Order: sequence, then structure tokens, then C-alpha cells
Amino acid sequence: MTNNNIHTTFDRILDRSAKEKLLQQRARVIWMTGLSGAGKTTIAQHLELELHNRGYLTQVLDGDNIRSGINNNLGFSEEDRYENIRRIAEVSKLLMHSGIICINSFISPTDKIREMAKNIIGREDFIEIFVDAPLEICEQRDVKGLYEKARKGEIKNFTGIDAPFDKPHDADIVLPTDKLSIQESVDICLKHIEPIIQYDK
Ligand code: ADX
Repeated sequence: MTNNNIHTTFDRILDRSAKEKLLQQRARVIWMTGLSGAGKTTIAQHLELELHNRGYLTQVLDGDNIRSGINNNLGFSEEDRYENIRRIAEVSKLLMHSGIICINSFISPTDKIREMAKNIIGREDFIEIFVDAPLEICEQRDVKGLYEKARKGEIKNFTGIDAPFDKPHDADIVLPTDKLSIQESVDICLKHIEPIIQYDK
């Protein structure tokens, strides 16, 4: 009999645990949510460096590598943000099933959007980090000059100005980045994450 199920069979021969064994790590998706300018990507990149130096294989996904490539056909309407996060969640899941620790940095503004991401990835594999800087601080920082444009009405649907941000209620970690240094935030993440991703035979 011919085997029409070659992919399924292949998956069963070499599954996630085989890849985690090879890499000597437990894969997870670490998901940073928060306003633009809260510090998500900065923390993600520093966290990635610390994990890399400790021997973990990671991949950061953020606006720079996702919205300029795979999602370059999406804007900031509610539907487009939902589709943005849906694709990111699916890509993260693939990376995680390859044994990689995926660090995501996206506003992911609503409970509905984050719920969808959790359901795709699987709750037990999803580590939610709320990068929690008040809007006033993000607006003062205005790293990209976008808040000023949004206040002038030059950008519509800007999160925190004329588009919603629902604060997460059940994040695994909350980082008040207006009160913490980058290193303090990264240390809090490492303390929580390292025991989870450590490989024990
Ligand atoms: S999300 O809402 O779909 O999760 P995402 O994290 O991918 O957003 O992109 C947010 C980044 O896009 C912001 O940091 C900012 O640089 C830029 N941006 C451009 N327009 C908007 C907008 N209307 N609302 C929020 N961010 C915007």
C-alpha cells in the first residue's frame, strides 16, 4: 500500500522533543505586549543576547522583521492587527516546534488578539510579558515621533491615542519600565524564564 501520509509519518519520527534534545533546551514563545515606546523590542533584544550567551538558540520577531516582510500587506485596522498577530503566532509555533525559543515584541493590543495568539501557540507554551509603561511616558519618549503625528491626526488608529489597548490581567511578568532599568527588566525575565527553558534529561 502506498503511504499518502509521508509528512505525518516524518513528523512522528522527528518531533519537537528530538529537536529540544539536540538543542538542549525547552522551547517556548515569550510574548512581549505593550504600547509603542514601552520598551518591548529593547528588552527582547537584550534578553536574546543574555540567553544566547548562556547557550540558548532564540529568534526575536518584531515589527522590523515581520511588518517589513511577511506582513508588509497589513496596516493597523482592527482586522489587520488581528491578521498580523495570527500569522506571527503561527510562525512562532513553527519555530517553537523546531526547538527554538521565540521572543516576540508586538503591541498585540486587545484581549481578543492575545487570546487568539495563546490558543494558536498553546497556553502552556506561552509566556506573556506585559511591558507596562504609562502612555504619558511613551508619549514623552516618542522615539519614532509617531505620538506627535497621531496627536496631530496625521496617523489614524494609533494605539493609546485613538485605538484601544487593553491591559493584560494575567501576564506572567509585568515590567514597569518607567521604574526599571533595561538590565533590571531583563534580569526579572531571566529569573522567570531560565528554569522553564533549562533542559534536564
Ligand atoms: S500590532 O497592534 O499589530 O500588534 P505591531 O506591534 O505589529 O502592532 O506594530 C506596532 C509598531 O508599528 C509601532 O511601534 C509603531 O512603530 C508602528 N505603527 C505605525 N502605525 C501605528 C498605529 N496606528 N498604531 C500603533 N503602532 C503603529
